Amino acid sequence: MSLLSESGAVGEAHSKLILAGEHAVVYGKPAIAIPFPLKIRATVEVNPGKVVLESLIYSGDVKEMPNEMNGIKECIKMAFQMLQKPLKDIKIRIDSDIPLGRGLGSSAAAATAVVRGIFSFYNKELSKEDLFYLVGLSETYAHGKPSGIDMTAVAGDMPIYFKRSEGGKPFRAIKPLHMVVADSGIIGDTRIAVGNVKGAYEREGEKIKKIIDRIGEIVDRIKISMIDGDSSAIGALFNENHEKLRALGVSNEALDGLVESALRSGSLGAKLTGGGLGGCIIALADSLEAAKRISKELIAAGAVKSWCFSTG
Ligand code: PMV
Repeated sequence: MSLLSESGAVGEAHSKLILAGEHAVVYGKPAIAIPFPLKIRATVEVNPGKVVLESLIYSGDVKEMPNEMNGIKECIKMAFQMLQKPLKDIKIRIDSDIPLGRGLGSSAAAATAVVRGIFSFYNKELSKEDLFYLVGLSETYAHGKPSGIDMTAVAGDMPIYFKRSEGGKPFRAIKPLHMVVADSGIIGDTRIAVGNVKGAYEREGEKIKKIIDRIGEIVDRIKISMIDGDSSAIGALFNENHEKLRALGVSNEALDGLVESALRSGSLGAKLTGGGLGGCIIALADSLEAAKRISKELIAAGAVKSWCFSTG
């Protein structure tokens, strides 16, 4: 999504939710992600002088961005290089509704919005391959060796069945899913979580392989249940997926507490979403009304924020 406005060019992206398969997807297993309607917008306009970024976490010269922002810095520099434009006379402002470090894809969405905004500013068509190449640069800094599910999910508008070797294949669920997303308020670190799983794999290969293989099967069964419209089956599979993520060591007390609270409040199934060690849980409900009830209980149980929505 990008458009030209009077105040400059605007690139947009949205956040994402991984329904199932996080971490196992790094090892070649499938995962399912859906768009989540929190938006991020990058406005690109003329600003004589340097290329300046304005955002909640950093405002200033792109060339002087702090190390933890090297990903987005390299992505911006490469976008200008691809467009054969000098790195000057531009301001990029990022406005985001997506909380950082909560497994909602904020880093991939920011890079996607920025790349779309820059290409739109120069009136240049942006191919999917170039978008993924540029966002991939940024994600590699943020995550180490990302599977690519985040950048694929934040750029598309449908549920995707994603495999590292094949990319994302869009598919349709026959019925809407009524969901609650609850934020533990703890910033998760995906790079550390992915590193922990890698360490566990090196130490206890066979045990971890079995867990990862089973997560792959759970994902395939969730996809079938989404196509069949069987919410109870999806809920039970969410619960099993959460248990497997616990066994991989990427959950924590806060996430487990929110999952338990969702289940006590009548959720059909709940699990952490994204890298873990903080961030959010998702809970499935049998109606939007039920989702709203569960959402209230989750806030009472300590979630700092929650969102209810039904998939389209
Ligand atoms: O960026 P997050 O926290 O939503 O996690 C991405 C999903 C992982 O499977 C944990 C990592 C990856 O590269 O796929």
